[in-house]
Amino acid sequence: MIPFSPPRIDDHIVKAVEEALRSGWITTGPRTKEFERRLAAYCGVDRVIALNSWTNAAELVLRWYGVGPGDEVIVPAYTYCATANIVMHVGAKPVMVDVLDDFTIDPEAVRKAMTVRTKCIIPVDVGGLPARVDEIIRIAMHACHLFTPKVNLRVAGSNPQMRLGRALVLSDAAHSFGATIGGRPVGSQADITGFSFHAVKNLTTAEGGALAFKLPEPFDHEEVYAYFNTLSLHGQSKDALAKNQPGDWRYDVAFPGYKCNMTDLQAAIGLVELDRYDNETIPRRRAICERYNRAFKDDARFMLPVFESKGDQPAAPATGGSKPLTQPAYRSSYHLYMLRIAKATEEQRDAIIAAIAKREVSVNVHFIPMPMLSFYKSQGYPIADFPSTYRQYSREISLPVYYDLTDQQVGVVVKAVKEAVVEVMGA
Ligand SMILES: Cc1ncc(COP(=O)(O)O)c(C=O)c1O
Repeated sequence: MIPFSPPRIDDHIVKAVEEALRSGWITTGPRTKEFERRLAAYCGVDRVIALNSWTNAAELVLRWYGVGPGDEVIVPAYTYCATANIVMHVGAKPVMVDVLDDFTIDPEAVRKAMTVRTKCIIPVDVGGLPARVDEIIRIAMHACHLFTPKVNLRVAGSNPQMRLGRALVLSDAAHSFGATIGGRPVGSQADITGFSFHAVKNLTTAEGGALAFKLPEPFDHEEVYAYFNTLSLHGQSKDALAKNQPGDWRYDVAFPGYKCNMTDLQAAIGLVELDRYDNETIPRRRAICERYNRAFKDDARFMLPVFESKGDQPAAPATGGSKPLTQPAYRSSYHLYMLRIAKATEEQRDAIIAAIAKREVSVNVHFIPMPMLSFYKSQGYPIADFPSTYRQYSREISLPVYYDLTDQQVGVVVKAVKEAVVEVMGA
């Protein structure tokens, strides 16, 4: 059986975790702080905070920005439920919009969905390909006249909504650590970027996540980092490491915060993963994806995933002005190989997956659109409103991509997919 996406656990990881276990410090401490510094350097930002998941990290962002009842947050219909669930957790309304052919949120649909209630936009880098975050920021800036900040919102002496004066752009980069926009790493474009280090992700800490801050002036990233640190630890004025210093036992609680810090055991894994990310992880994933590409490219039954958009396509002007804006190049982190079977219906796609499974290969579908899941269906998001989302989903099959997948196994996957397509579609 070829699994879909097992983590790369080898002696380096085991040794690093063992050292952390034996160090006498296993919760948030020196390894987490080192991981944060290294992530910030990688992303080219002043500050990154490491937390226990994308979900909790991104929910903190909505709470920090004061998003709540009566507010709207624009999300793509085509994403994992976490993107919209955090909006529900804070009592706001997810406003779903359709996606482009490359699975990323359609900037034009975002522009049309902006209202006086829009407090945040969450573009998603599906499969590792960056969404057009630069364009989304321009849309948010252009719509600033619609933005209605909450005036009585106070966060550590300031009001982030008044400071930013527009909808916050929170990038869902759960899949795209290491991807680039115009040659610059993801994390250095959106106001705040959220990463996931869940077990199946390119870079894992078993469970985990991080926020990279790139807020414009006059935000002070040290102040913002300090606030998120406190927010992720019950509003406590000192973390466990600080309280552990001799005589330093007294602390205060400034507000009822949450509890979603990263542990040093997780950070120990993350540091090893980060060390080998550019030299081993990304090159191997890219090589696997290129091998799949070569196998499927001259066959009209298949549509290849987009790993790089060349940036030579002039984008529609986000501002409604007359001069087209040039798009930068968007380069994937090669997280998923999202193959599409060009003419398959949803039923045929499902049958193809069953036929692949018979051949001992695990594949997946990214994603079941949120409007097709019971809860979101019950909230009145008809899938008919998102035709591109449905069209991409209904013919999509994600193939295995992971460091230890051998070239020979890639060949087995390709054979299984081609045979399954013949079995179901007849040609
Ligand atoms: C697009 C997307 N966003 C968010 C998440 C949530 O990440 P986490 O499991 O770290 O909370 C996932 C997880 O798979 C995801 O795929």
